[in-house]
Amino acid sequence: MHSKESNFKYNSFMQNFSQTPMIQVIPTLETELKKLSTKKTLSFKVLNPDCSSSTYNGNVVLHDSHEYIYRGYKTWLDLAQQLQCRMLTPVIIDEYFVIIKYEKLNSDVSFHKQDVEKEDKYGKNSIFSLIHKNEEAAYLYYYLQALKNVKIDTRVRILNLGVNSGDEFQAIIETAENFESLELVGIDYCTSAIESAQEKFKEYKNIRFIQADINTLENLELERFDLVISIGTLQSSNLEFNKLLMSIVQNQLKRSGAMILGFPNCRWIDGEMVYGAKVKNYAFSEMGLLYKDVIFSKKYLQQKKFRVTITGKDYVFLTGTSIL
Ligand SMILES: C[S@@+](CC[C@H](N)C(=O)[O-])C[C@H]1O[C@@H](n2cnc3c(N)ncnc32)[C@H](O)[C@@H]1O
Repeated sequence: MHSKESNFKYNSFMQNFSQTPMIQVIPTLETELKKLSTKKTLSFKVLNPDCSSSTYNGNVVLHDSHEYIYRGYKTWLDLAQQLQCRMLTPVIIDEYFVIIKYEKLNSDVSFHKQDVEKEDKYGKNSIFSLIHKNEEAAYLYYYLQALKNVKIDTRVRILNLGVNSGDEFQAIIETAENFESLELVGIDYCTSAIESAQEKFKEYKNIRFIQADINTLENLELERFDLVISIGTLQSSNLEFNKLLMSIVQNQLKRSGAMILGFPNCRWIDGEMVYGAKVKNYAFSEMGLLYKDVIFSKKYLQQKKFRVTITGKDYVFLTGTSIL
């Protein structure tokens, strides 16, 4: 962290929010951000969160006979995302104050924006290929929990639908205790993503990648699997979610099988995983479709005698394990 306010060159906006309630901070920042160009930084002074511990946001901290409002870094990080900004390293003024800096994201730098063919959208030279979800703690933590939940070591034949370059398999390689005895199959219709995956995992004889359309899954005659994983794929506009889910359970999964479904509740913008699902025609995050598909999956799997859990944050993970 930088250490002196005097050394810090602040940009267009600097305000002291150390005594301002959040209900006023949010609209003030919204107004200022509207005036700011993308990639520019805005800065504001707040109470140093490290000046107190075990303190909930909103409590009063007394300093030099003045009252200040306590708020931790999490709230400033959350707000940065909500306002489509990246929080930069704060500047420490002294024990009691810091400067928070928000950089306005460039919302044009996002693979969601691209209305292009699958190769350009998901292929090895796409913006999507720059995303490494296994380095996103809020994703990986819950994915690992889902693998544990379905007892990954007991699931010998594993199918991944929409595998792209295979990040989900990497986590299995690193966590399964009996990896050599598992058989992994990954499917994706994007040719260069499948080629990247084949190259990346070429030393593993028990991993196979197939370039194919999920809509024609049954033609592949793959036999049934102990575990089907699909992250961020089944809600694609070229697939019919409900029909596909039912067909996977009926035709691809063993009766004693398990499923891990990952539903994105985030967008990838200008280097950041920004919380909140986005659907067409809404300027803000809207989760109706996410909840609808999660609940449909839950009810259907329960009907088919699966025990279902729903966890996660930026990705919602549904696990189903057969109780038969
Ligand atoms: C959002 S990406 C998710 C990739 C990976 N599971 C992840 O979470 O990083 C969706 C993937 O599904 C693939 N996909 C979409 N529709 C497909 C289809 N009908 N058949 C095969 N693959 C498909 C895309 O090529 C892409 O790799």
